[in-house]
Amino acid sequence: MKRFAKFTIDGKTVELPIIEGTCGPDVVDIRNLYQETGLFSFDPGFTSTASCFSNITYIDGDKGVLLYRGYPIEDLVEKCDFLEVAFLLMYGELPNFSQKESFEQSISHHTLVHEQLRSFYQGFRRDAHPMAIMVGVVGALSAFYHDSLDIYDPAQREVASHRLIAKMPTIAAMAFNYSRGRPLPYPQNGLTYAQNFLKMMFAIPSETYQINPVIAKAMDIIFILHADHEQNASTSTVRLAGSSQANPFACIASGIAALWGPAHGGANEAVINMLKQIGTKANISEFIERAKNKNDSFRLMGFGHRVYKNYDPRARIMRKACHDVFKHLKIDDPLLEIALELEEFAIKDPYFIEKKLYPNVDFYSGIIFRALGIPPSMFTVIFSVARTIGWVAQWNEMIADPGQKIGRPRQLYSGNVKRKIEDNRTS
Ligand code: CMC
Repeated sequence: MKRFAKFTIDGKTVELPIIEGTCGPDVVDIRNLYQETGLFSFDPGFTSTASCFSNITYIDGDKGVLLYRGYPIEDLVEKCDFLEVAFLLMYGELPNFSQKESFEQSISHHTLVHEQLRSFYQGFRRDAHPMAIMVGVVGALSAFYHDSLDIYDPAQREVASHRLIAKMPTIAAMAFNYSRGRPLPYPQNGLTYAQNFLKMMFAIPSETYQINPVIAKAMDIIFILHADHEQNASTSTVRLAGSSQANPFACIASGIAALWGPAHGGANEAVINMLKQIGTKANISEFIERAKNKNDSFRLMGFGHRVYKNYDPRARIMRKACHDVFKHLKIDDPLLEIALELEEFAIKDPYFIEKKLYPNVDFYSGIIFRALGIPPSMFTVIFSVARTIGWVAQWNEMIADPGQKIGRPRQLYSGNVKRKIEDNRTS
């Protein structure tokens, strides 16, 4: 039965249809609101707004559930590798053997970057933040592939998507090695996505590089956990940029820019800085008090989430991966000790309980990256490598939607009403 929400304004009642999804909250369809009432809806930060239909990722923030195409994240981490998950996100189903083989082949076929793209790196200072390099170099890809510019041709969209998924690890590892004054690496096909990335990051031409399977497994898990997260800030940015029919590589560069901020993907870097600032377990309560103080801008980084009002399921998996890596590498990192105790304190504190603030994925990811020898400035870069599959899957879904329109929000104007330029304004 069709349901409607009734909305009465100045004695006039309009009926707004309610649309049901497969799970999660239903939505009030306000597309005709302006036409029928002359009113806009007001929702800065989109806290109550569904911006699109999507079949890709589902989050139940109250229960702490994350599904990719219906599969729980825990099961995907246990039973699949990153490229299988990437295939799932992009095509809707897990691949069979031959689909997996041909997807892997296509991705490895595209891992090299154009030799001319390599010269872009020289234009950056050695101390440039690698996310700045990523925004620039991924944006520059839009100048290289003239054979995939028709975004309404599914085959051209597919090749652009495969190029992005394949080249991101290469571009990221090049940014890392550039900052260290090392030769820019080349990919090695035949390795898994995670192994190839680790090799490009850490191998040097003068020495043989042994891939540690425990580290490669941890990296694969990190990639899966960060692969998609429905309409977050960077994905919405990619969708909004793509809604104007912009070049796909440029759209992904806009997603990287949005991801960089400390309220989004940059939080993992901020967590490490915060843990260092805390310094010892003895200081934890002081920092918790600061986080609760309204007059102090300090927040517990890696805590809280717009959607999760429960433990972020990715954080739980990351916490375990962290322990596995530390045990395997026999690492004793005081920052992990501080993090574990900080979590224990915070989740028992009435402020955090009342506001439903739990550790998010970024709380433990920085600690694991540290153990793998990855510096903080690269944390968000790795997030962007993983999230590229989510961005391209969501971009494809949007472009393929026949009802797709350019994204064009309106505003509640609060500036001056029409006025005249005074003749004596210089005096
Ligand atoms: N520490 C202390 N107080 C907090 C925190 C925190 N980390 N997060 C939220 N609050 C408080 C906030 O002060 C506010 O209090 P009040 O209601 O009294 O004004 C209340 O909780 C709600 O916060 P909000 O900022 O209105 O919530 P939001 O949904 O807009 O923000 C968030 C979500 C993730 C930006 C925020 O929780 C935050 O800044 N966390 C720290 C940064 C972080 O870890 N970001 C990573 C997000 S997960 C990775 C990703 O998916 O990108």
